[in-house]
Amino acid sequence: MKQGFPEGFLWGGATAANQCEGAYKEDGKGLSTADVMTAGEKGVPREITKRIDESKYYPSHQAIDHYHHFKEDIALFAEMGFKCYRFSINWTRIFPNGHEAEPNELGLKHYDDVIDTCLQYGIEPLVTISHFETPLGLLQYNSWQNRRVVDFFLNYAETLLKRYKGKVKYWITFNEINVMSTKPWMAGGIESNDEQDTMTAAFHQLLASAKTVQMAHEIDPQNKVGMMYAGHIAYPNSPDPEDMQMTMDFMHKMLFYCDVQCRGYYPAYKLKEFERKGIELPLHAGDLEDLKNGTVDFLSYSYYLTHVVGKETSLDFQGLNGVKTGYTNPSLDKSDWGWAIDPKGLRYSLNYLYDRYQLPLMIVENGLGAIDTIDENGDIHDSYRIDYLKEHIREMKKAIDIDGIPLIGYTSWGPIDIISASTGEMSKRYGFIYVDVDDNGNGSFKRMKKDSFYWYKKVIESNGEVL
Ligand code: BG6
Repeated sequence: MKQGFPEGFLWGGATAANQCEGAYKEDGKGLSTADVMTAGEKGVPREITKRIDESKYYPSHQAIDHYHHFKEDIALFAEMGFKCYRFSINWTRIFPNGHEAEPNELGLKHYDDVIDTCLQYGIEPLVTISHFETPLGLLQYNSWQNRRVVDFFLNYAETLLKRYKGKVKYWITFNEINVMSTKPWMAGGIESNDEQDTMTAAFHQLLASAKTVQMAHEIDPQNKVGMMYAGHIAYPNSPDPEDMQMTMDFMHKMLFYCDVQCRGYYPAYKLKEFERKGIELPLHAGDLEDLKNGTVDFLSYSYYLTHVVGKETSLDFQGLNGVKTGYTNPSLDKSDWGWAIDPKGLRYSLNYLYDRYQLPLMIVENGLGAIDTIDENGDIHDSYRIDYLKEHIREMKKAIDIDGIPLIGYTSWGPIDIISASTGEMSKRYGFIYVDVDDNGNGSFKRMKKDSFYWYKKVIESNGEVL
């Protein structure tokens, strides 16, 4: 019986343009929602200034300057043996305000180079079309609340699908699409928390995604298009049926996005909720068919932690994407940023999602945000990161060997240190490669290999056998 990770398993790492590229005004780039978010810190939210305030510091403006270092960075990924690099294309490099008719050639040229560099090393590019980088120029339309933005997005997606035909096969339409329910600004430049507004915006993104899937298949039948779920997985705080019901409600709130993208229609529980709350979907003729015809080829998700849900304790801590995870799971340790470390939950989540959708799965984010220190010899001993990743990979292997889950890839988050999305800090590091930049953007930008760099290289070399 064949055991272990399948041949061709997509080992690699994942980044987002706004968290690594910098060069925020270069080569005709416009401003995105990420470019007007200041740096916060643990417990201090990032401020959204909506325009650039020269007196403030915005981490996306230079980030780790991947825009100018991408050749060096991808060479380091290749040295670790990456089979896949997940990155996002910054919409505002291609359409600076989001709504232009013609793309910015210089922006496209940059990604030609990034993609060609990957291909030179035999690294499969996995492109996220939209990763928390909505053009600020779309705010004049109310961003995703306006149906016109669906067409602007389709123009952008078509430009990419045609330009990179034959080079890029794996696509993700929206990063963590369910973030619309927790941080609507991040998910799509939505300035309101009103549920009618966020559900309208979510509907437009789901529609845009479904139409993109259809278009991608028409342009190149080889294309595989996935959805991306912010992997919120919850346990009930107790066996009390009320806690169980609350857990199911929490999961429904998060999972309906997957239901639409994987099954092609809004689930009954969501439609009933809309009815109760008087929420209306701005449906046009043909939309329901589009959702049906635009289901995804694979489900990808981020997995960092698990939540505990119930009625007893007050929820006071803001965890991943603003979801309140006030309960402490007594069986689990937490990261320095308070995220519950739960490797076994990864296997559970793989089963949970596969049972529900029967689609190939891919973990496109996982990792430990931690503070790293350089010792007197210039080395970075990040055994805590190795331990975290090792335990998670072990559980993935069990999910393949014991449960028969069709897992096609694993791209750990931030294989090179990048800006944190939730806090804007640089000191919350995930990488195998250290970048000498601090929380205020000072440093030499020098890249250094951590212990985990050599460890991950062996993991990939052995196709997950040597951990
Ligand atoms: C996911 C996002 O929510 O989590 C990434 O897709 C983000 O953009 C990652 O960076 C880790 O979160 P953080 O806040 O530690 O950077």
